Amino acid sequence: MRKYYYFLNLKMLIFASKIILKLNDFIYSGHESPIESVSFSWSAPSNIALIKYWGKKEPQLPANPSISFTLNNCKTETTLSVEKKNNDDTNFSVEVFVDGKLKEDFKPKILSFFERIVLYQPFLKEYHFKIETHNTFPHSSGIASSASGMAALALCLMSLEEAQNLEMTSDFFYKKASFLARLGSGSACRSVESEVVVWGKNKSIKGSTDLYGIPFPYKIHPKFINYQDTILLVDKGTKQVSSSVGHSLMDNHPFAVHRFRQAHQNLEKITESLTTGNLDDFISIVESEALTLHSMMMTSQPYFILMKPNTLKIIEKVWEFRKETSLPICFTLDAGANVHLLYPEFVKGEIINFIENELTQFCENNSYICDSLGLGAYQFSI
Ligand code: PMV
Repeated sequence: MRKYYYFLNLKMLIFASKIILKLNDFIYSGHESPIESVSFSWSAPSNIALIKYWGKKEPQLPANPSISFTLNNCKTETTLSVEKKNNDDTNFSVEVFVDGKLKEDFKPKILSFFERIVLYQPFLKEYHFKIETHNTFPHSSGIASSASGMAALALCLMSLEEAQNLEMTSDFFYKKASFLARLGSGSACRSVESEVVVWGKNKSIKGSTDLYGIPFPYKIHPKFINYQDTILLVDKGTKQVSSSVGHSLMDNHPFAVHRFRQAHQNLEKITESLTTGNLDDFISIVESEALTLHSMMMTSQPYFILMKPNTLKIIEKVWEFRKETSLPICFTLDAGANVHLLYPEFVKGEIINFIENELTQFCENNSYICDSLGLGAYQFSI
C-alpha cells in the first residue's frame, strides 16, 4: 500500500525531497491516540558504505559525510505489534523475539533506543510493544545487523505515528524514519530508501544533512545499475572492538581533521564517478576509503586491527586479477574482516569463476553471500 502511495506522490516527492528538515520538524506535535491495537511489518536492507562514516558527535551525528550502496538480499524483516496499555505505567514495555525466540539480551539496546527517540515519539510510553525480527543473512556471518535492524524498527514506529496522523506526507515519513534510525545506529539512516544514499552535510550534494540520509540526488550511470556486491565471509565471529568504541577513538585521533576533510573530497569525487560511469576513479576511491578506515583503526590510541591475514590475501588476489584481466572489480571493507567485492553486472560470470577458483579458500567454510544494489525498505503484510 505504501509503495502505491509512493508512486502517487512521486512528483511531489522529487520536489519535496530537496527541502531540508530541521531538528524541530521531527518533534511530535501530539494528539491523543485513538489506536488500541495494531501491527506493522517492514523489511529493511543492509548497506555498504563507499565513503565511510567513522567518527561522530552527540547525538549520533556524523563527523563526516558518507555514501552507501543499499543491498538487496541482506535484510531484516520486522513485525511490530502494539497494544495500548490499560494502566498509567510510564516505563517502556517491550518484548523482543528473534527468529521466534524471546531474547532478553536484545531488550537493553531497544530500551536505550526508545529513550533516545521518546522526545520525537512520546506515545512510545502508551503502548506495549512486541517486536518480532528475523535477518535474511546468517546471524554469525560477521555482517552487522544493526543498520537493517534499526531501520526496520524505525519504519514500523513511523507506521504507528502515521496511523495517528493521516495527513503525514510520504516525504516526511521517510525522512523521519531515517532520522529515528540514525539515533538507533548511525549507518541505519542509510537503510531506508533508494539505491544510493548520502548521509551528512556536504556543500556539493543538494539536500544533504547530518540529521538523516537522503537518496543520492543525481542520476547514476547505467554501469551502476544492479551493481554486484559479493561478501566474502573471512571471519564470522563478532568483532573484538565495537563500532561505538571505534567511532569514539576518532575524538582525539591525530589524523582526524585531515580524514574528515578527505571524506568530503572523496564524496565529491565519487559523485562524479557515479554520474559519469568512470569505473577507474570509482575503484580507486572505494579501495582507498576502505584502507583509510582501517588505517584510522591502526593509528588510534589504543590501536587495533580488524583485518585478518585472509583479508589481505584476498586483497592481493583482487589486485593481481585486476591487473591481469583489466576487469572492473574492487574491494571494500566495513568494520570487520569480511571483504565486499563490488563489480558491474556485466562481468558477473567471470568474477564468480574467480571467486570460486581463487578466493573461497580464504573464507570460513568457503562461504560467501551474493548481493546486489537494492531499492530500499518496503512494507509487507503477514
Ligand atoms: O553505524 P555504525 O555505528 O555501526 O558505524 C558504521 C561504520 C562503518 O560501517 C565502518 C562505516 C559506514 O559508514 O557504514
